Amino acid sequence: MGLAIEVRNIRKFFGNLRAIDDISFGVEEKSLTILMGPNGSGKTTLINVIGGLYKPDSGKVFFLGKDITGLPPHEIYKLGLARTFQIPALFLQLTVLENLMVASKNNPGEHFARSLIKASWIEEEEKITERAFEVLAMVGLLHMWDKPATVLSGGQLKLLEIGRALMSDANTILLDEPISGVNPTLAHDIFEKLVKLRDNFGITFFIIEHRLDIALGYVDEVIAMAYGKLVTTGKPETVTSDQRVIEAYLGG
Ligand SMILES: Nc1ncnc2c1ncn2[C@@H]1O[C@H](COP(=O)(O)OP(=O)(O)OP(=O)(O)O)[C@@H](O)[C@H]1O
Ligand SMILES: [Mg+2]
Repeated sequence: MGLAIEVRNIRKFFGNLRAIDDISFGVEEKSLTILMGPNGSGKTTLINVIGGLYKPDSGKVFFLGKDITGLPPHEIYKLGLARTFQIPALFLQLTVLENLMVASKNNPGEHFARSLIKASWIEEEEKITERAFEVLAMVGLLHMWDKPATVLSGGQLKLLEIGRALMSDANTILLDEPISGVNPTLAHDIFEKLVKLRDNFGITFFIIEHRLDIALGYVDEVIAMAYGKLVTTGKPETVTSDQRVIEAYLGG
């Protein structure tokens, strides 16, 4: 199998701060790959570069072999690479179903001209609704479809975020801390769902997460970074027993 994402020699500086300093690695298609590293090591910045929110100062990003360096986020999204945010971007006053439908509407790939023709607008609306119900089943929120997002638990909000990313038919999803602030039982539930989504729909997940006690039991590959640099990559047990990784976490 090939690589879903590949970054080559990526650099992203903020003034003098070397947030990402010459990082290269690949994320296998249909894998659950975790990006780990202490606070401030550059994980979110890296996902922002991959998703097109930040342009790298140098280096290249490839998605399924295609060079996507510098493409705007909506172009990357249209290619099938979606993401969630560290701080949830949900509309709490809307229902669960509406949150999914809005995610799809926000997709700038939609043809504005076509949406002016009423018949086609209704057809579009029906398609989006159908997809939203499919996605609700995929993330296990079908029973909550008409509830306002405010009544969801922390874990269910995370699932809704993942659902929003799935509305685009993405085959690769970047998740920024999908289980932060979620109780352990639900956190395991979320990772079990990710494994199922991978197995049943062939989705690749590239995940930032600090809760390694839970996450490492589910992931195939680990990418460890610290201070904007790559420390090592490999299987969970190899990476977590690596002295350089341990030192990075101890503040070494
Ligand atoms: N837009 C920005 N402007 C200036 N500095 C930034 C910006 N975004 C991030 N940084 C800095 O870059 C470094 C890396 O930040 P980043 O958010 O990528 O870390 P992180 O690994 O995601 O941390 P955490 O685990 O706490 O989420 C930090 O020192 C941060 O303060
Ligand atoms: Mg972060």
